[in-house]
Amino acid sequence: MSLVVFISGRGSNLAAILDSPVGAQVRAVFSNRHDAEGLAKPQAAKIPTHAFDERDYATREEFESKFLEYLPRYKPRLIALAGFMKILSPQFIQHYPQQIVNIHPSLLPHFRGLNTHQRALDANATEHGCSVHWVSEECDGGEVIAQQKVAVEPNDTEETLAQRVLAAEHELYPKVLAQLLAAQH
Ligand code: GRF
Repeated sequence: MSLVVFISGRGSNLAAILDSPVGAQVRAVFSNRHDAEGLAKPQAAKIPTHAFDERDYATREEFESKFLEYLPRYKPRLIALAGFMKILSPQFIQHYPQQIVNIHPSLLPHFRGLNTHQRALDANATEHGCSVHWVSEECDGGEVIAQQKVAVEPNDTEETLAQRVLAAEHELYPKVLAQLLAAQH
């Protein structure tokens, strides 16, 4: 029932996972930034962390091979990308078929990629939200597992909308990870 989480920065989704019942299943946290803020919480909880920065490696293959070297010791049943800002190669994804999930701040298939909140406002969307999806070779294109909607209010700015979507992410992701792990028994 092991879960490994990948982060790049702030780590608020990781914090929500660690503070939820599924937090007990987190065996390790990996990052592509040594200075990712989000590493502090697992470190304080004595959960192993590994950081490898792609800028220290000549190729993406070499960078990913560091992850692939350390991951097997945690025997991950699931790998949860939580604000992991690096696109994984098809070769990496094939190592963990149907075992890598991501949280994305939009109601996929709307607004793949970056700046989703501003794009939702620009499109006059009346609802927005977040999606948990399987990671496939197509960026933000894998099958959606679950979504949580957030109504767009007339006075919303990018910041206010981002805040409410992030709160929805913090509710949705730990719940879905727990369900997926339970289903994999
Ligand atoms: C979240 O909005 C997540 O959906 C997106 O990046 C953000 C990461 O936030 N992929 P955090 O690092 O979990 O605080």
